[in-house]
Amino acid sequence: MSEKRGSFTGKLGFVLAAAGSAVGLGNIWRFPYLAAQYGGGIFLLVYLILAVTLGFTLMTAEIAIGRKTGLSAIGAFKKLDKRFGFIGWLGSLVPMIILPYYSVIGGWVTKYLFTFLKGDMPAAATDGFFGAFIADPVQPIGWFALFIGVTAVVVLFGVEKGVEKVSKLMMPILVVLTVAVAVYSLTVDGAMEGLKYYLIPNFDNFSVTTILAAMGQLFYSMSLSMGIMITYGSYMKKDVNLASSVSQIELFDTGIAFFAGLMVIPAVFSFSGPESLGKGPGLMFETLPKVFNSMGFAGHFVGGAFFLLVLFAALTSSISLMETVVSILRDKLGWSRRFTCLIVLIGCLVLGVPSSLGNGIWSGFTIIGMDFLTFCDFITNSVLMPITALLTCLFVGFVLKPKTLVDEVEITGPFKRRQMFITMIKWIAPICIVLILGFSVLEALGVITV
Ligand code: TRP
Repeated sequence: MSEKRGSFTGKLGFVLAAAGSAVGLGNIWRFPYLAAQYGGGIFLLVYLILAVTLGFTLMTAEIAIGRKTGLSAIGAFKKLDKRFGFIGWLGSLVPMIILPYYSVIGGWVTKYLFTFLKGDMPAAATDGFFGAFIADPVQPIGWFALFIGVTAVVVLFGVEKGVEKVSKLMMPILVVLTVAVAVYSLTVDGAMEGLKYYLIPNFDNFSVTTILAAMGQLFYSMSLSMGIMITYGSYMKKDVNLASSVSQIELFDTGIAFFAGLMVIPAVFSFSGPESLGKGPGLMFETLPKVFNSMGFAGHFVGGAFFLLVLFAALTSSISLMETVVSILRDKLGWSRRFTCLIVLIGCLVLGVPSSLGNGIWSGFTIIGMDFLTFCDFITNSVLMPITALLTCLFVGFVLKPKTLVDEVEITGPFKRRQMFITMIKWIAPICIVLILGFSVLEALGVITV
């Protein structure tokens, strides 16, 4: 690359930027419904263990690869070893599949924001509201098109700088609001049952799928295994402490997910009963309006503000996802920015529509028993990302050698978890990923039941 690469000003700038990419719908929408579905406390425990071991290892590796090479994923792997450029390619597929369905969910959030702004909170809090909305063949597609359209405009005109400034203001408010609503949720009658379910691990709920779901969520939430953190690392200065930055990003991301769980799961127990835990992707949308509605008049404002902030977090994520896709295509095909944006927009619309219709008129169309949105989510988070992570580990462990990255980390201070990093990346992570992946794919195909 001929032009000089910009870099983040300091550690805080780096940590906030990476945390900004990491924090999105994954934390607020996806984490709570997975935790609810996969056994509450046991899911939380497995997730936390994975975050400090596997998550830490992979994020450190990706950021170190980026900083060492000064390139984003495809170029970085190629520069380290010509034969392994394909790992970068594999990771690049992921944002292309995620973006369309991410935007469908973004559309749902937009719809809820407008519902609250119109003063229709009581309607949103009724039982059939969400189901009727997503099953409608037209409405959700309209909101999805609006969401992806705004994303494309921002990417086209490159107003990310402005978005970044606004998100520096809005993200802290989102954190405060999430914690506040979580605390309020706990005061509602019957919430304690839910709190127990969420915090106390019950080993009867444990299965291989718990680990797979938690691992997929870890990759998704921390934007791992898709080249994003490599790109961020390439912008990181050589004097910023890498290991402690990783710990802080993880703390930030996991903290928000944890509070989102506190916000949603106890409320599920109080408003709908434990039988609603398995609701899946709709959980947040069905539960939170009930929480806001129970606040009375203030609920209109708290709920409206909440969905506005979530929409913002979702937009910042969709913008960087689309930016990633656009720049990969441009680098490879030499297209103009405008043309690339248009093609990506059309591609997203085409792929997003079945994700949306799969909740209604196309619900009969399933792939290995999953509707289209769930399938896209499964194939990226539970298959492609683990495979990319596995290849990254094997590449670093046996081709590049962990020492190369350890040296990169140690440029800027001691690497306390150095031994864990080496053992994890060479042995534990690859073995675990292969086992979990094998079991889960066999299970998804109906070959075994675990
Ligand atoms: N981590 C984001 C979230 O939790 C989603 C995401 C995945 C993402 N990959 C990304 C965001 C790449 C920005 C860029 O919602």
